[in-house]
Amino acid sequence: MTILVTGGAGFIGSNFVLDWLALSDEPVVNLDKLTYAGNLTNLTCLDDDARHVFVQGDLGDRALADRLLAKYRPRAVVNFAAESHVDRSIHGPEDFVQTNIVGTFRLLEAVRAYWGSLPEAEKVAFRFLHISTDEVYGTLSKDDPPFAETNANEPNSPYSASKAASDHLVRAWHHTYGLPVLTTNCSNNYGPFHFPEKLIPLMIVNALAGKPLPVYGDGMQVRDWLYVKDHCSAIRRVLKGGRLGETYNIGGWNEKPNIEIVHTVCALLDELCPKADGRSYKTQITHVQDRPGHDRRYAIDARKIERELGWKPAETFETGIRKTVQWYLDHPEWVANVQRGTYRKWVAKQYKETNE
Ligand code: NAD
Ligand code: TYD
Repeated sequence: MTILVTGGAGFIGSNFVLDWLALSDEPVVNLDKLTYAGNLTNLTCLDDDARHVFVQGDLGDRALADRLLAKYRPRAVVNFAAESHVDRSIHGPEDFVQTNIVGTFRLLEAVRAYWGSLPEAEKVAFRFLHISTDEVYGTLSKDDPPFAETNANEPNSPYSASKAASDHLVRAWHHTYGLPVLTTNCSNNYGPFHFPEKLIPLMIVNALAGKPLPVYGDGMQVRDWLYVKDHCSAIRRVLKGGRLGETYNIGGWNEKPNIEIVHTVCALLDELCPKADGRSYKTQITHVQDRPGHDRRYAIDARKIERELGWKPAETFETGIRKTVQWYLDHPEWVANVQRGTYRKWVAKQYKETNE
């Protein structure tokens, strides 16, 4: 048996592939375009591991998907591949429409043709698991209950709109064609291999580089945070036991305002890697112009996956964030590597008015 993963060289995908192969011998075919966010060095430890087959390519390349499906005959496809950064989607939404919507559509079509050709027993066992985000639900006020799976989709950014569109395609391919799909909508992840364009890794690498820590607006926007390894365990659980056609919210029960996250990161760095001048990293915090259309609050009601599949996160925010900060301190070469080239251009474009 084999699974096909898309986007397995990105942040969550590479954690998923590494955990998968640490826990089982079932091979993984990893289809990834290697955009700026894809990084094969995340998977260096699998270089000589025959259970991991890496293929550089686009999830929207129908001929390639057909070939891979026919050759490796996976029992499941797990679709991580996406453009994933809200700020980039504001600057340039086109790639988000292409990859997240058109790419998912083409992959669904390839998978539908493959699935339709399978013998009955394999057809029944097959799964298409689509990885999505809580951002499809839109934004919450302070006193609203957390997002449940039954909430309407009200996406507000080009990123979340493109993810919501892909979720709808996946749903329709089940309803209309009977494709055995599952969808997960997860809150903000953090952990090893997180690209430093996102809040937590950006704060860590900027702090260590003595650069400003750019907090958008008042910093009181709330996100729910989940350690990436917990997301991966939830995905495995849904793949194994999720009910066909269902969506499962995944979250960490860790709602926190951004400014509190930044303070926590600074406090950990003060403890683990104190500044030479004895001052706190907090002195580097700068409030900068807010993101346009910035969602104020996300929160996840993760009771369905707990009730139906018995999944709960293993890490608290305190344990997960400590591991994460320590990982960045232990991997300066990874950080230096991902900060080369196009990363510099992005930072210059996004933060030039404030901290360049
Ligand atoms: P990421 O940006 O770190 O990685 C995305 C990966 O997809 C990269 O390896 C990239 O090369 C690849 N990719 C991009 N376009 C592609 C294409 N056209 N064809 C093939 N590969 C392509 O993203 P991530 O944070 O790992 O997120 C993975 C998935 O999880 C996404 O679908 C995202 O929407 C979802 N998600 C992310 C979070 C989060 O907090 N990061 C939370 C919930 C859901
Ligand atoms: P991000 O990591 O981009 O994830 P998302 O927008 O998908 O939730 O941002 C998390 C929160 O941190 C979000 O409210 C925006 C905020 N943020 C900053 O305040 N400063 C930054 O430089 C970045 C990248 C994000």
